Amino acid sequence: MNKTSLEKKIINVLKNITDLNSDVDIVKSGTLYDIGIQKNLITVILDIKNKQPSDYEEIKKLCNSNLLKIDRTKNINIVFTSENLKKDSNTSKPQLRKIELEGIKNIIVIASGKGGVGKSTITNNLAISMSKSNLKVGILDADIYGPSQHKMLGISHLKPSKNKDGKINTIVKSGIKCMSIGLLIDEDQPIIWRGPMVQTALTQLLKDVDWGELDVLLVDMPPGTGDAQLTISQKVNISGAIIVSTPQEIALIDAKKGLNMFKKVEVPIIGIIENMSFYLCPHCNTKQEIFDSGGAQLVANELKVPFLGKIPLDIDIRIKSDEGKPISTLSDIKISKYFEEITQKTINFLDKNKLD
Ligand SMILES: Nc1ncnc2c1ncn2[C@@H]1O[C@H](COP(=O)(O)OP(=O)(O)OP(=O)(O)O)[C@@H](O)[C@H]1O
Ligand SMILES: [Mg+2]
Repeated sequence: MNKTSLEKKIINVLKNITDLNSDVDIVKSGTLYDIGIQKNLITVILDIKNKQPSDYEEIKKLCNSNLLKIDRTKNINIVFTSENLKKDSNTSKPQLRKIELEGIKNIIVIASGKGGVGKSTITNNLAISMSKSNLKVGILDADIYGPSQHKMLGISHLKPSKNKDGKINTIVKSGIKCMSIGLLIDEDQPIIWRGPMVQTALTQLLKDVDWGELDVLLVDMPPGTGDAQLTISQKVNISGAIIVSTPQEIALIDAKKGLNMFKKVEVPIIGIIENMSFYLCPHCNTKQEIFDSGGAQLVANELKVPFLGKIPLDIDIRIKSDEGKPISTLSDIKISKYFEEITQKTINFLDKNKLD
């Protein structure tokens, strides 16, 4: 590891903090797991192993106050991780401990193999559509590298507060509870996230946020099949995954990869959505299949998973999204029916596979 002088200073400070029930410091004991340095943020990850986060509160405070002395202009973020493996008593197969999220009845991930196919757009429009069907809905933006929900929902100027138990409150927009790393960090600063930091950040977004009671938490995933997908699949019980693809061959190949990854980690597949499926000319009402169409249906048939529906390519979807007002918040729009159909199929899936 290339230790910058700041990193060395941080380690020296941490070497002066004695670990819990021990006579060695938190660096020597291995509790220090990782350090992240951004322009105005120092993140220190502590692996608290089998201990409770509350046991480490004092140490957290000490780290915080001592690190502040290095550079008062930086924010300090001390996060806990615990990656201990637990033996499953039936199979003796090692399992990562799941996070218990008592108030959340269903967690649905919205994923794709390829980037830019419309996951985030579909996530917030589906959320609104589900909320119109009287479900209590939340959105977790799991895209740590490139969060977008805070912008798409027009809440990027808001900063989440904390409740009396120290949990982070969601920001509520159009009846949807939202949490995104974009609401918590300074967006103008480039961030280099390391693998363990992504896992820890995601775990905290799930665990340290006051989600309250939710019928459905929609998780907007980053593209691909990396750290975030695995962390979510391992850390929480997922009711199902929705895979988004555009009709092009290249997107469909990646969609298959995404599907297979979720199947491998035993996450049920709710189905595939074909986004930007066709263009409906607002003047003459002619349907144009710009990127070809129907490919996602074929993939669904081939992999024996449900096809949830098509969403047209529609300029208003893009414009409203950029304005921070998802199109489904508007009333009397033709596009709503496409999301309503997918919402209904998703609700049917949840009813059939009730986890609550
Ligand atoms: N059906 C659609 N019609 C028109 N524009 C769309 C449609 N779906 C998505 N878009 C636009 O395409 C762009 C990419 O969409 P979005 O950010 O939702 O994709 P993504 O899959 O979440 O991307 P990433 O992989 O980077 O997270 C956005 O500008 C969005 O407004
Ligand atoms: Mg996205």
